[in-house]
Amino acid sequence: MTSSLISSRNAPVKATEQNAKASPDFAGKLAETQALLQRAATEFTPVTQASSLGAEDVVITHLINSLQLDIPVFVLETGALHTETLALLERTQAHSQAPIKVYRPVSESVIQFVREKGQDAMYQSIDLRKACCGVRKMEPLARALTGQRAWITGLRQEQSNARAEVPLLDESEVATKALYKFNPLAKWTWGDVWHYIATNEVDYNPLHDQFFPSIGCAPCTRAISLGEEFRAGRWWWEDEAAKECGLHVKK
Ligand code: ADX
Ligand code: SF4
Repeated sequence: MTSSLISSRNAPVKATEQNAKASPDFAGKLAETQALLQRAATEFTPVTQASSLGAEDVVITHLINSLQLDIPVFVLETGALHTETLALLERTQAHSQAPIKVYRPVSESVIQFVREKGQDAMYQSIDLRKACCGVRKMEPLARALTGQRAWITGLRQEQSNARAEVPLLDESEVATKALYKFNPLAKWTWGDVWHYIATNEVDYNPLHDQFFPSIGCAPCTRAISLGEEFRAGRWWWEDEAAKECGLHVKK
C-alpha cells in the first residue's frame, strides 16, 4: 500500500519531494480536519494533542497553531528517542504558539528496569518489550491524559491493517475512561501528509529523509527498504500482530 511511495533507497531525495502528492479530494479532507480540530477545541475541552513529532503530528501541531486553537501539545520523551527527534522537540518548543509539554518516565523506574532486565531487554521477549513501553510510555501517557476530556492523535487508516478502521472521532473509551480520541488525519494518505508539509514548509524530523516513515524510540525503529510496509521498521523482530506499544491498543 505505502511501499509504492518509497521509490529508491539510494536516491538523495527529501521526504517532501519523495512523497508529497495530494489526493484528488485533499481540499475536502483538509476542511474536514480543520472543522474537527475547531470542534475539539470548543466542545471537548480540556483537549490535548499527543505528538511523537512524526510527520502526521507536525501537521496537526501546525494546524493547531495556524487556526490559533487552544490545544496544548504533549510529547512522551521516553529517554530513548533519536537525537534528531530531540532536536526537533527543542525547535518545536521554541517556535510553537501552542504550549509543548514534555512527559518523561519516572527515572527510578527506568534505572530499576534496566538494572534488572538489561539495556536490550526489548529484544528478548514481547513481554519485556511491553514492560519497557509500560515504564517509558504508558505511565507517562496516563499522567499526560489525567483530567483530559479528549486527546488528538496522528493515527491514519492507511498506516496498517490494524488501523484500517480508525475513525475521525473514537468514542470507544468514553464509557470506561470518559475520554474522546480525535484522529483528524484518519483519512489522509501519506502523500496528503507530505503535500501539507511541503506547501506549508513545516519543520519535520530529518529521519524521514532517511527512509524512516514511522519513528518511535531509537532501539525499536529502523529504516525500511523498498517494498516494505509503512510500519515495518517498528519492532521489526516481532510479529505483525504484536506491533503496537499500548498507546492505541483497546483493552
Ligand atoms: S505507536 O503506538 O506505534 O508508538 P505511532 O508511532 O504510530 O504509535 O504514533 C501514533 C500516534 O500516537 C502519534 O500520531 C501520536 O499521536 C501518538 N504518539 C506516539 N508516540 C508518541 C510520543 N512519544 N509522544 C506523544 N504521542 C505519541
Ligand atoms: Fe522501550 Fe522500545 Fe517501547 Fe521505547 S519503543 S519504550 S525503547 S520497548
